[in-house]
Amino acid sequence: MPSIISDAFGPFGRNLEATARVRRAIRGAGHETPVVAAGGIHGFRQAEDILQSATADIIGAARQSLADPDWFKKVRLGRGGDVRSCEYTNYCEGLDQKHKMVTCKLWDRHGLDETGVRLTPDNKRRALAPQWSYSGARIDADGAEPSYTGPVASSRKPQANE
Ligand SMILES: Cc1cc2nc3c(=O)[nH]c(=O)nc-3n(C[C@H](O)[C@H](O)[C@H](O)COP(=O)(O)O)c2cc1C
Ligand code: SF4
Repeated sequence: MPSIISDAFGPFGRNLEATARVRRAIRGAGHETPVVAAGGIHGFRQAEDILQSATADIIGAARQSLADPDWFKKVRLGRGGDVRSCEYTNYCEGLDQKHKMVTCKLWDRHGLDETGVRLTPDNKRRALAPQWSYSGARIDADGAEPSYTGPVASSRKPQANE
């Protein structure tokens, strides 16, 4: 059954305190095991803060990546305003629990009659998010996307005892 996380903490980054504690304990024991933070991670600034504050070494974004499979690409291209943000209603998880193909309510009824749209087995929803294109993006002569020139979180060297 789809549900909304409605406690005072809300859906955003709700596991971060626990993740930081786990990571500190691992580092305190002298291990370098990378720690992944997940749960309500939905934006570049938030993800970057998690990495920069040494809360985690890697971030995971499940529902935000389903809501907008292109979200990180949009951010890289400076099109953060185009990101389709997850509403954390858990409609998708409800489908999974009923053993139905998982789609997102933000896009699965859009353009159902367009040519070439792949549908779910019951033909009621689109199986894949609509394609995103941005005509203003600089595309190199070989068709490659512009390279990202901003901060690269994964290149950051962990500090001692982090
Ligand atoms: C469609 C869907 C199915 C999931 N199935 C499982 C599961 O079988 N087992 C599990 O431990 N977590 C499951 N999860 C939870 C995710 O692994 C993850 O912990 C959760 O979505 C939090 O990350 P997010 O806020 O980035 O989505 C599922 C989540 C979604 C959206
Ligand atoms: S259905 Fe879409 S908007 Fe709703 S929780 Fe899942 S990914 Fe987010």
